Amino acid sequence: MAKSKSFSCSACNASFSKWSGRCEGCGEWNSISQTAALSTGPGKKSLGNTRGNTIVLSDLATKDTPPPRTLCGVGELDRVLGGGLVAGSAILVGGDPGIGKSTLLLQAAAQFAHSGVKTIYVSGEEATAQVRMRAQRLGLAQAPVKLAAETNLRDILTTLEAEKPQLVIIDSIQTMWIDTVDSAPGSVSQVRSAAHELTSFAKRNNVSIVMVGHVTKDGQIAGPRVVEHMVDTVLYFEGERGHQFRILRAVKNRFGPADEIGVFEMTGRGLSEVTNPSALFLSERGEPSPGSVVFAGIEGTRPVLVEMQALVAPSPHSQPRRTVVGWDGGRLAMILAVLEARCGIPFAGLDVYLNVAGGMKISEPAADLAVAAALLSAREDTALPADTAIFGEISLSGALRPAPQTENRLKEAQKLGFTAAIAPSGGKSVSIKGIGLRRVTDLTGFVGDFFGAG
Ligand code: TYD
Ligand code: MG
Repeated sequence: MAKSKSFSCSACNASFSKWSGRCEGCGEWNSISQTAALSTGPGKKSLGNTRGNTIVLSDLATKDTPPPRTLCGVGELDRVLGGGLVAGSAILVGGDPGIGKSTLLLQAAAQFAHSGVKTIYVSGEEATAQVRMRAQRLGLAQAPVKLAAETNLRDILTTLEAEKPQLVIIDSIQTMWIDTVDSAPGSVSQVRSAAHELTSFAKRNNVSIVMVGHVTKDGQIAGPRVVEHMVDTVLYFEGERGHQFRILRAVKNRFGPADEIGVFEMTGRGLSEVTNPSALFLSERGEPSPGSVVFAGIEGTRPVLVEMQALVAPSPHSQPRRTVVGWDGGRLAMILAVLEARCGIPFAGLDVYLNVAGGMKISEPAADLAVAAALLSAREDTALPADTAIFGEISLSGALRPAPQTENRLKEAQKLGFTAAIAPSGGKSVSIKGIGLRRVTDLTGFVGDFFGAG
């Protein structure tokens, strides 16, 4: 059967049956190229009556031991992986260029190699001499890691088959190319085919493969999202460029909990792990000031305390500004609307800035109450007591919903020297020694209690 041709847009990934100069999906010019279909897909004919082979069915119950896991010794990385590296797993590490992915993976490779895992590091971006220099700077020159600088995937796989490593780092997937796919390295079809080959190689040979993927803004180079569904584990390495903190976040993990984070600090000698992130995130906090509130959050299985900072100022513009760093802009609009509609506190004509200190990104709804408190404190120019941690979700009616893991949040706050906490009522009753817990039922009550008006 003749193989059908297919074309796809490198910007939006839409597929077409013929080439054209402009993508109908996203309007991008000159972004459509021919792609080799992974398979020709279902044909027009049905299967008919012809018999196939029977396949073997098995039971769920098993006496097999769970897949072995190897710990690398860097606690923050082991936890994000779900308790160590699983043999034969495919892992994607995404992140902005220059955030520190190569540094992290070279350090991880050295750690795994030291704990007896046969490790190969394949760089498609840097020459071996460059990787070696970096290793020297990180003090890892003696680690038994094998290096290669190569981009041809067929050669890489042939080498891996001969060498039989247990862990392979591919830096990055966007530089790999397959000679049977007729488009440039970095295009959607190359990236997808390369990831597919590497993932099936990992499963077939029981080798763990870590692929690096750069997050890209323009459509010419495919981002890591196009391969997320193929791999077992997806980790994103995030952080603000100006800050030294870096956060490794599991967004998908077939072998462990998702949403787990590992916190690192970028130093002159590479990344060092931060075992107590709350202390670090709060270390830059000065005297209690208006607009600053401490949120007791949960990231994965671990409580993390962060400072929320808000600034509210009269706006010189007809359209007041709403600027958010580290939190969701849509959620901020919602909190402002609830404050206005349910508590009668207008923010019209006021610029609102919200910042999560330390370059952390928060997605938990339980941060709502802390944000509302920061906004009110900034607007009223009154500081909340410095030793108070806050959390709770706000619903559109203005009611407060209990947040999960109240006890863990309070314990972390107590450990860091906080003596009071504000949390929604409801849920089971918790008391932690040394923490005066104030329970509030709705936002109006909260405003009345802490800011005198309602
Ligand atoms: P890199 O790992 O090359 O980023 P990526 O692979 O994600 O593109 O890291 C690049 C940045 O990290 C670079 O701007 C310098 C900084 N860096 C340090 O601050 N200290 C170090 O020890 C190293 C190796 C890098
Ligand atoms: Mg790199």
